[in-house]
Amino acid sequence: MKRIPAVHYLFGVSAALFLCAIGSGCVFGERHGVGGASRLLVDDPHSAAKPKDVVVTELKLSLSVDFEMQRMKGVATWKIERNSDGLELWLDTRDLEIHRVVLSGGPAGLRDAEFELGEDRELLGRALRIEIDDATDWVQVHYTTSPKAAAVQWLSASQTAGGKKPFLFTQSQAILARTWIPCQDTPGVRFTYTADVLVEAGLTALMSAGQTSRKEVGESSVEFSYEMPQAIPSYLMALAVGDLAFRAISDRCGVWAEPSLLEKSAWEFGDTEKMMVVCEKLFGPYRWQRYDILVLPPSFPFGGMENPRLTFVTPTILAGDRSLTALIAHELAHSWSGNLVTNATWDDFWLNEGFTVYLEHRIMEALYGKDYDEMLAKLGIDGLRHTVETMTKGPNAKPADSHLKLHLAGRDPDDGMTDIAYEKGYLFLRTCEEIVGREPWDKFLRGYFDAHAFQPMTTEAFLAYLRANLTRGDVELEAKLQIDAWVYGPGIPSNAAKVESDAFATVEAEVKKFTDGADAKTLATDGWSSHEWRHFLKTLPRPLASDRLANLDAAFQLTTSTNSEIICQWFLVTIPSNYEPANAALESFLVEVGRRKFLQPLYEALAETAAGKEFGRRVYAKARPGYHVISTGTIDKILDWKP
Ligand code: BES
Ligand code: ZN
Repeated sequence: MKRIPAVHYLFGVSAALFLCAIGSGCVFGERHGVGGASRLLVDDPHSAAKPKDVVVTELKLSLSVDFEMQRMKGVATWKIERNSDGLELWLDTRDLEIHRVVLSGGPAGLRDAEFELGEDRELLGRALRIEIDDATDWVQVHYTTSPKAAAVQWLSASQTAGGKKPFLFTQSQAILARTWIPCQDTPGVRFTYTADVLVEAGLTALMSAGQTSRKEVGESSVEFSYEMPQAIPSYLMALAVGDLAFRAISDRCGVWAEPSLLEKSAWEFGDTEKMMVVCEKLFGPYRWQRYDILVLPPSFPFGGMENPRLTFVTPTILAGDRSLTALIAHELAHSWSGNLVTNATWDDFWLNEGFTVYLEHRIMEALYGKDYDEMLAKLGIDGLRHTVETMTKGPNAKPADSHLKLHLAGRDPDDGMTDIAYEKGYLFLRTCEEIVGREPWDKFLRGYFDAHAFQPMTTEAFLAYLRANLTRGDVELEAKLQIDAWVYGPGIPSNAAKVESDAFATVEAEVKKFTDGADAKTLATDGWSSHEWRHFLKTLPRPLASDRLANLDAAFQLTTSTNSEIICQWFLVTIPSNYEPANAALESFLVEVGRRKFLQPLYEALAETAAGKEFGRRVYAKARPGYHVISTGTIDKILDWKP
């Protein structure tokens, strides 16, 4: 493989680059969301940035991607705004090599800046302190990323569907953007950006932005240029590079995927435009122009990531029957809750995820009906009840982790990614809707998004807005809502909305028949969607005797299911039952798929017994090199793995 010449990074050309970077116009028209002094600036324990002194508003990024060295060389040129007399810009970095910092602005022209990297702190990395002067308006940082940059996963050709070209993707949320861009890595600071990305010929570079050009550079490289006129926080910066092709779904929606997955993906996500129409009707205009979806290789550690204009998704939702596309509704909904109105710090994560799960259910209900959505809601709430149980009872109880408002200072913000933010957040909003009535509630939500578009939001500011616009001093209504119990108290308050699904009551009757000894073939499973199957498998008692599992497997081919949710749930029955015929399929699944939501419960189930743990560790040795560090971080602990 040929190395890419690092044309941009010879210091001799940096002045020219600096000027052209600053000079380029915006082809997307108006910039949105970079406010002035009215911005809500709060302290974020997970960032060294001091936006109350100096804040960034605009980024010109130049990157060259080197697959062989697993590094990116970068120049990040930040426009700054000073909010105080302070003469220091503080940026977050982690595992970055900083080569040089250059200032511009004022009559002095370009000048080198003094800078200093602080001590390396676990998770947070090293703060970069840059000395600026009164005249500084742009600050340019020259840097190189490390092969171990936690946001970046470098995949060999063999880890892709096509098998011929390498692939890379980034995952910046929550505080990993600093491992590939020196930035004010806090969700409370937003900026617009343009980017030029140089990759080897034959590859396509995609970003969370609009593409403005694609240029051949010599024979062996291509440069892609991107522009993002809407201001975003750093955790929404995203890049993917690979052998990628595009198929349109509508005028403003489409799918990017490796060529062999394109058709299947375009079909699976065929309802995306309809979802957008529902969202706009309920929550106001879609303000990001395009909505495209990028299907990643299976090592992607999450189900989906709401990178603006370009949602990243796992291929494990390509079930062939559109049954797992609530995830698209979810990521699309983040275009309002999260990307438009953004948690100010990770302690307010529920404002992103709880709202998004609520919006997701509204989309699913509008498109597929109340019964279907109630089934999905029930699956979520069952998970919540289980999570609350472990958080509030027993010797390791941490009831404060079940408050919506979290206190994550000194911890990994990833610890906040639990059912509390998602499902308790959802249940609170659904409870509010039921108490105040759908029509006033929808009006309130619509107003909330409009009033705070492109702004950070704290839990306290949200509650103040709710009290000013919804309860308005109505003491009785306040008492009914139990707002403080939901937000600052443990567990699930007594006024929680009831979530019940008739479809699942039917499923439970079939579970009973089976456990009473019926032959699996006689069960009434006709017409079941993957959700009924999931509930069926979840409700089965365990361990089950091997002959009973063989009976089920023979009737429904569970070990060879191509639905990731069904097969994962099946393994969660076969593992504690020690049902050996499923082990080969389990091993392939664990090696192939890197999605943490599946890996975590499976390895946990294996770790329950000595033999299971040994099997798990053997498979993990093989699978681990293919996993993202976000997943290995979790699984190492489960298996007591010393890297
Ligand atoms: N934004 C999240 C993913 C995330 C959260 C990444 C926190 C890093 C830190 C995304 O929108 C999400 O919630 N994804 C879910 C799927 C969803 C349908 C619940 C996932 O990946 O499982
Ligand atoms: Zn989400």
